[in-house]
Amino acid sequence: MNSDHFYITTPIYYVNDKPHIGHAYTTILADVLARYHRSLNEPTFFLTGTDEHGQKVQRAAAERQVPPQQHCDETVLRFQELWKRLGITNDHFVRTTYDWHKNVVRQVLQDLYDRGEIYRAEYTGWYCVGDERFFTEKDLVDGKCPECGREVSEIIESNYFFRMSKYQDWLIEYIETHPDFIQPAFRANETLGFLRKPLGDLCISRPKSRLNWGIELPFDKDFVTYVWFDALLNYVSSVGYKQDGGAFAKWWPASCQLIGKDILTTHSVYWPTMLKAMGLPLPRTIFAHGWWLTGNTKMSKSLGNVVNPMEMVDKYGVDAFRYFLLAEMTLGNDANFTEDAFVARYNSDLANDLGNLLSRVLKMVLRSGGVIPAPGERQDDDRELLDAAAAAITGMEAAIRDMKIDQGLDAVLQSIRAGNRYLEKTAPWTLAKKGETARLNTVLHTAATAIYQAAVLLMPVMPEKMTELGQALGFDGGAFAALRIADLRQGGDVMTGRQVSDTTGLFPRIQVEAAAEPVKPAAGDKAAKAAKPAKAPEPAAPAPAVAEDGLISIDDFFRTQLRTAKVLAAEKVEKSDKLLKLQIDLGTEQRQIVAGIAQSYTAESLVGRTIVVVANLKPAKLRGIESQGMLLAAKTGNKLQLVTVDGDAEPGASVG
Ligand code: ME8
Ligand code: MG
Repeated sequence: MNSDHFYITTPIYYVNDKPHIGHAYTTILADVLARYHRSLNEPTFFLTGTDEHGQKVQRAAAERQVPPQQHCDETVLRFQELWKRLGITNDHFVRTTYDWHKNVVRQVLQDLYDRGEIYRAEYTGWYCVGDERFFTEKDLVDGKCPECGREVSEIIESNYFFRMSKYQDWLIEYIETHPDFIQPAFRANETLGFLRKPLGDLCISRPKSRLNWGIELPFDKDFVTYVWFDALLNYVSSVGYKQDGGAFAKWWPASCQLIGKDILTTHSVYWPTMLKAMGLPLPRTIFAHGWWLTGNTKMSKSLGNVVNPMEMVDKYGVDAFRYFLLAEMTLGNDANFTEDAFVARYNSDLANDLGNLLSRVLKMVLRSGGVIPAPGERQDDDRELLDAAAAAITGMEAAIRDMKIDQGLDAVLQSIRAGNRYLEKTAPWTLAKKGETARLNTVLHTAATAIYQAAVLLMPVMPEKMTELGQALGFDGGAFAALRIADLRQGGDVMTGRQVSDTTGLFPRIQVEAAAEPVKPAAGDKAAKAAKPAKAPEPAAPAPAVAEDGLISIDDFFRTQLRTAKVLAAEKVEKSDKLLKLQIDLGTEQRQIVAGIAQSYTAESLVGRTIVVVANLKPAKLRGIESQGMLLAAKTGNKLQLVTVDGDAEPGASVG
């Protein structure tokens, strides 16, 4: 098996409509995996493209009253533009209307026909136009399409068939003996369940009288090729099959074919039996991911809840969007897309954890000369942080291998949170004040090293932002973007002497007000109207799992971000005897909070004090005044006592 090469594919998307978040997700996931494998120094080939033949496309073109090829030429641009915008690094883009692809399809058909793998027969079946699939009577559910529940129509016609049935026993055995072939494992079981029923032969033609937008059969000009038979062959035609033997031998079999769970059967039954009949080895893995849902229902145009990736990207930026999709979905399962969840994750992982760590370190380095100093002798705290950073590398490598990118990202975020805790513990601002320069140098160097390693690990997910981060750490942008996980394994000091610069704007916190206006549904009026009865929004952040014994994990605790803040100004809220309005310095930003402490503290007595606030609380309005956080105080009866910090603390220090 070609495990030193990585060939990854996405489904090729229908050009009957514009791309939506599902398409964007699969393509971003493939891109991230391709970038990670390149980062592991594996020669990589990443293929995506469009599926341009068949009934759906013919109908979409007819609706627009343009010839099908023109329709394809116009719609494909939307995909290509979106991929460019999303930073997709595909090595090739296949369109099934390219001549070279059509030639390969014709050659495969002729060869299978010559060898008796394809025959002609009378056919009765039920056809679902939406899914472009034929079903037998017993496949139907209540007389409707078993896949989508729509009406099907009965069709009797003469057609060509591929002898798929004869490979049934072979396929069952293959799946049973190759646990990697269909993943996750429960999808292999689903396929085996399907294969428990007798497998029919596959109708691979359509009479031109019914459909003419397809590849003509080389042995019968009255028929075109069934769109799935044509489309699946893109995976081999695109890497040189029947055209460039060297390239084909290099890349085939594919390492990973990503699909959504909606197209499992075509990929786990039709495709392997086709390959078997062609005498080709099967891909190492077909990986089916789950669906993106909105408000826990399937995204659909008629519900008006389709998320338009372009609008999310315009609003929040490409990298944040890529990060959210990757971090939020556990591969294989469904996941819920809501803007609230997006904002909550962005603010907590990127703005607070990563952004905060970076800005604190940069500030401290800038304050002590602007150059990352050489470290002195390392102590336990330093080694602990470097161990956490190393664990992130190992965790990410394992996650790439096991297709668990969300877990890899989690490992990196753990190291970043460890970095923030490290700063609180070692308190470089105090070291600076006390003039303990040797220790300060070690701390700054160690923290910068941890950030550098995390950035290289996050590069495949957030290439633009991590390049900026690298530049802030004093690297050349291009050189930093080219760094690989393999380089982290080299070890050595790459930080000493780097001239840093400030990047306060890397991950600005999203003010929830700005996010409150929802991204509009993608489709037109119909969808906008239908959007009204949509489900209530999901809770903003994943609710901490509280165990039965009432105990929470340390990670649950750290979801609440407690930080120190300095009170810059305070005044009484008019017509309220309880509320004070405070302007506070959170280190990285200024905020306003409203606190119900006027009966225990005067406004003047608070100015200049360092308090502790919940920094990631959803803003709320009290008496019409916005409060962006909450301060902590102990309460005895009516008496409130502020929670403060022992000694000096830099504003923005995390508490925990
Ligand atoms: O099926 N969540 O094309 P298609 C996640 N042309 N992913 C989703 C999704 C969602 N809600 N909706 C769609 C076809 N997808 C055929 C494929 S391959 C030889 C031919 C993604 O335009 C997911 O990857 O309907 C799914 O498999 C694909 O889009 C289907 O795209
Ligand atoms: Mg589909």
